[in-house]
Amino acid sequence: MSRVLVVGLGYVGLPLAVRAAEAGHSVIGVDTDVAKVASLNGGHSPVEDVSDIRLLGVLARGSFRSARARENRGARYVALDFDVGVVAVPTPLRDGEPDLRALEAATTLVGQHLLPGRLVVIESTTYPGTTERLMGAILEKESGLRVGTDFWLGYSPERIDPGNRVHTLVNTPKVISATTPEGLRAVRTFYDSIVDTTVSVSSPATAEFTKVFENVFSQVNIALVNELATVAHEIGVNIWEVIDAATTKPHGFLRHTPGPGVGGHCLPVDPAYLSWLVRTELGRGLRLSDTAQEINDAMPAYVAERAAGLLEPTGLAGARVLVLGVAYKKGTGDLRETPARPLVAALRAGGAAVDVSDPHVTDWESWIRSTGTGVIDGEEVVPGIDQYDLAIVCTDHDEFDYRKISRQARRVLDCRNRIAPGPRVCAL
Ligand SMILES: NC(=O)c1ccc[n+]([C@@H]2O[C@H](COP(=O)([O-])OP(=O)(O)OC[C@H]3O[C@@H](n4cnc5c(N)ncnc54)[C@H](O)[C@@H]3O)[C@@H](O)[C@H]2O)c1
Repeated sequence: MSRVLVVGLGYVGLPLAVRAAEAGHSVIGVDTDVAKVASLNGGHSPVEDVSDIRLLGVLARGSFRSARARENRGARYVALDFDVGVVAVPTPLRDGEPDLRALEAATTLVGQHLLPGRLVVIESTTYPGTTERLMGAILEKESGLRVGTDFWLGYSPERIDPGNRVHTLVNTPKVISATTPEGLRAVRTFYDSIVDTTVSVSSPATAEFTKVFENVFSQVNIALVNELATVAHEIGVNIWEVIDAATTKPHGFLRHTPGPGVGGHCLPVDPAYLSWLVRTELGRGLRLSDTAQEINDAMPAYVAERAAGLLEPTGLAGARVLVLGVAYKKGTGDLRETPARPLVAALRAGGAAVDVSDPHVTDWESWIRSTGTGVIDGEEVVPGIDQYDLAIVCTDHDEFDYRKISRQARRVLDCRNRIAPGPRVCAL
């Protein structure tokens, strides 16, 4: 049993913290979001992958608690004594470039509490070299200790797929690394206690590269199928039938499907970390990835264009459009970088009045403020769906009753192939 510190209690940090607590570790999680800390200590989980019941279980057993982390340097807000410190804070973009401020602040906090013999693992996604070069230096400076001799430093990328009930934190193999063989043993001992399988690689830079490679792989393949979907539509072929047929090939083909664009914290962001590194350190572009980004970014506007086509002769001007599902992926209420946002903007720019509905989204305030759309409650079918000129299935949550939608809506543009195409239903 170890004393585990998890810094950042979001989609990555919270499931890890709760799982570690369930596995017998004594876990303290810290976060700068005071409201989140209060909610967690009250037994309310904001993350789908951690139920309130599981959270209440580890709180009741005393194996997990959370506390506020101060953003400002220097202040020791809570007594943090740990054997393993894990950092899982956001790594967003700022003006298109990696923004490591949260990662640096969180690593600083860990460094201030670091004692000899401890292990620090970075889980945030970032470009190769960050852990060893940048975070190692911060930890050494803050603690006065030497990495690899006084304490161990590792990197283990998270592969969590929020909302996925099949591939979970526990049964998804976890790539692990450290700056030294002794460090790697410590990392392996920790992760072997919480996941089924660990996969060791030779350095943190290799593990960091593995994570961004996985994301670039998805980004490029999604862009490929998105571009082919536009081509298929123009030449009168159903791309979904093509994909189904291609998927029967038992080797060398991996199914990807088109959609209204990519969202979330990972795919629109992480490849840009690698692209930035290649640009700044190697002086060239990451061509396939950069082009893929462009193609995926253009999808919301393409969907709006297709919507306008379905509403001819008047097009979008004056039309009432309902967007079903605005979270970036099904089964979650996560609005980060969701393509629904630029889609709605494009529809409104064309003159449509847009309402949205999403049974998973709970925090509508900033959405309404920034998009100007109406939000309609509705589970299986949005009441009054027949009053809209067009319903667009943007995110295909299972809660929607697609059979009823296809019967009641006047016209449907289905970006996810959930409804059989027909006179009133058109697939992307
Ligand atoms: N969400 C995913 O599906 C996913 C999957 C794999 C990897 N990742 C990566 O994991 C990292 C975390 O992503 P996430 O989705 O969990 O983000 P998140 O926004 O859900 O959670 C991050 C948490 O960190 C907190 N935080 C921010 N700065 C902090 C600081 N200085 N000290 C303490 N807490 C701080 C935030 O308040 C938030 O609660 C990112 O690098 C992301 O790219 C995310």
